[in-house]
Amino acid sequence: MIETADIVLGCSFGDEGKGKVVYDLLKKNNYDLCVRFNGSGNAGHTVYENEQKFVVHQLPVGILIKNVYNLISSDCLIDVTRLKSEISGLIEKGINIDGRLFISKACHIVTQDCIDYDKANNKVGTTGSGIGPTYSQKMLRTGKRVEDIENELTCLGIQVVDMRKFWFSEFVINNVKNVLLEGAQGFELDINWTNHYPYCTSSTCTIAGAINTGIPLKSIVNVYGVTKAYDTYVGTMKFQPEQYNDELNMIGDLGHEYGSTTGRRRQCNYLNLDNLVESLKLNSCTKCIINKVDILEKASIYKLYHKNEIHSFVNLTDMQDYIFSVLSDVVTQIIYSFNPHSI
Ligand code: IMP
Ligand code: MG
Repeated sequence: MIETADIVLGCSFGDEGKGKVVYDLLKKNNYDLCVRFNGSGNAGHTVYENEQKFVVHQLPVGILIKNVYNLISSDCLIDVTRLKSEISGLIEKGINIDGRLFISKACHIVTQDCIDYDKANNKVGTTGSGIGPTYSQKMLRTGKRVEDIENELTCLGIQVVDMRKFWFSEFVINNVKNVLLEGAQGFELDINWTNHYPYCTSSTCTIAGAINTGIPLKSIVNVYGVTKAYDTYVGTMKFQPEQYNDELNMIGDLGHEYGSTTGRRRQCNYLNLDNLVESLKLNSCTKCIINKVDILEKASIYKLYHKNEIHSFVNLTDMQDYIFSVLSDVVTQIIYSFNPHSI
């Protein structure tokens, strides 16, 4: 029976390092089930195990860990061709999904027509994965769902589930105590909450997406809001301010800021604390994880935006003191990560 649930979600424009956080939490705690609650092949969650690199797109990060069950819930989209190659890629690396993967029967299927449409009508710089067109079909109620191709998925060893029954099933009652819910993209890309419509994705990247899985609300303990020590964005909107190009390009180079799904260069900017506070509050985050602090140290650049102004600091401690003064009322813990492979 479910006892606790934690949520990991992006507080920025995606690419905050959620994959690493989820992997680290799964390894250090006793989670039985990892749930992906939004997005699809547009996401790319990168994790490292003994210098070996794994990138998952549609699959929850928990698939990389033996004994962890995984669920892709109804708000996610499924690109079957790419799912198959993701699974076979993992099998080649010695990771078997053997009865550990559940997919909601209500997930919509990404078709080739949707991918073609996305690529041919791409003004906002999407990942070209067919995301917008597939969510459009879902709303038009003309789309194809997992339940329509159930056999094709069960042949792969995937269990198709009815989410109305899942949380109260014998399986969950007997096997699942602790759950970790994993978001894709981030608050600034959310279809409702973005400040930059239409330069956003088409899913719910917030805590609302996590709750829409049907997870019992009473079980939620921690909500980890993940961000980086500087902001990045990939898409056609102008994001990187020209007057700071030299510094921000250096940060982008040192941080290897290229998309894990499309390989595109990410634009960079200094951390925006005003936006971060909104994101942490609106997602009811209990903890804030700030990744890639090591990159600021390498660059020796310590700047952030607060109250719409740039603040510069002489060293990291001063910057952290400032962040603490702003966030200490918002979250119970601020975790700084200097390590690309763990928190
Ligand atoms: P779409 O989700 O492919 O429709 O892309 C819409 C916008 O969201 C584009 O600016 C993408 O670059 C961005 N985006 C989508 N998924 C991710 C992600 O996982 N990380 C970062 N940006 C993303
Ligand atoms: Mg990513």
